[in-house]
Amino acid sequence: MTDTHAPVRIGLAGYGFMGRQHAEFIERQAQATLVAIADPAPVDAPVPVYVTIEAMIESQQLDAVIIVNPNVLHVDSAIECLEAGLTVLLEKPVATSYAESLRLVDAVDRLQGRLLVGHHRRHHPSITSSAAALAAGAIGDLVGVSGVWSARKEDVYFTEIPWHAEPGAGVMLINMVHDLDLLRHLCGEVVDVQAMTSTHARGLVVEDTASVNLRFASGVVGSFFASDAGVSPWGWDQATEDTLEFPFVRDSMAYQLVGTRGALSVPDLARYSYDPSVAPNWHSPLSRTYLEAPQTSSYDAQLKHFLAVVRGEAAPLVTAADAAGTLALIEAAAQSAATGRTISMEEFRAQRAGNQRSDSSFTPVTFN
Ligand SMILES: NC(=O)c1ccc[n+]([C@@H]2O[C@H](COP(=O)([O-])OP(=O)(O)OC[C@H]3O[C@@H](n4cnc5c(N)ncnc54)[C@H](O)[C@@H]3O)[C@@H](O)[C@H]2O)c1
Repeated sequence: MTDTHAPVRIGLAGYGFMGRQHAEFIERQAQATLVAIADPAPVDAPVPVYVTIEAMIESQQLDAVIIVNPNVLHVDSAIECLEAGLTVLLEKPVATSYAESLRLVDAVDRLQGRLLVGHHRRHHPSITSSAAALAAGAIGDLVGVSGVWSARKEDVYFTEIPWHAEPGAGVMLINMVHDLDLLRHLCGEVVDVQAMTSTHARGLVVEDTASVNLRFASGVVGSFFASDAGVSPWGWDQATEDTLEFPFVRDSMAYQLVGTRGALSVPDLARYSYDPSVAPNWHSPLSRTYLEAPQTSSYDAQLKHFLAVVRGEAAPLVTAADAAGTLALIEAAAQSAATGRTISMEEFRAQRAGNQRSDSSFTPVTFN
């Protein structure tokens, strides 16, 4: 069927590592066109480049902006675009603190804005299949979950792009934020978190390695390990063909979900179970079958969805409020790592709300 929509006119705010990838995703999508870029650095680009977002918006007729600049700029950039009436795809993390993310949530509400958060993995077919399988009881009642994201980033990632080594970055905000978003999506809300972080491998101010324990409201418990210093085949980016930046590792995985009647690994969708005619029993042989899911890139699916959000045909799959919930979890994990205490998410949110009301000079936890 022919799509009769005029291509959505998109501006990119930020044309670095990830901005250039977004330009490629737009190039692949007939219903979108890249019109302009805002970036203060001199960049070689196929469309007009402006030094500020403001200049880009004033000079060009845009429908939407994809914000791919450094994390500390995200909230102000997004609010500027929303105030101009544009639909926004905002890269993760939406902010560098929970309090900042709430400022974004307020702005989206106040302006009745359309904003999608770039947790692209949510658009991957394996996540839709996993969520449906869990809901249908394919592995019985969920008991626990574990996961890994570990890959050795090149040293120049930190030396050539200084913000990657400064507070507001670090493996938790840059990488683990995607995983915790997905674990909340698949397993439900987290009620308690414990964490340990380390700067041992790289010696930077920001953590290179982190391990978190999670207790979910359902009673499920789990853990997640992330490192940008450790070589490994395990993690979402190695286990999918989402981006050529990460060579695909066959049979890799990111998450292992265990239930009372089976187990599921994600995103390869291997399901393990005993013979269904007998009661689950650890002496029985396990069989492995694979759930079906189409092969689609998360980024292409995310962009298609974003175009529907721009046209008012779909509500954002990942909202600012969703992202704020995950940032609260990341920040509570950082607090746990700094204090050695288990952090109750309910108490953490209440404390943050109280701080915001009573102390305008409140400083959020730093991630080191
Ligand atoms: N979804 C994902 O999987 C994914 C992957 C990588 C990065 N990211 C996110 O994308 C964002 C960018 O990361 P990166 O690795 O491309 O960083 P980068 O430093 O390579 O690129 C950022 C670009 O923004 C530009 N910039 C700086 N100030 C600006 C401003 N005021 N307005 C517009 N542009 C400005 C910089 O000059 C640079 O070109 C980060 O938020 C990061 O977390 C997401």
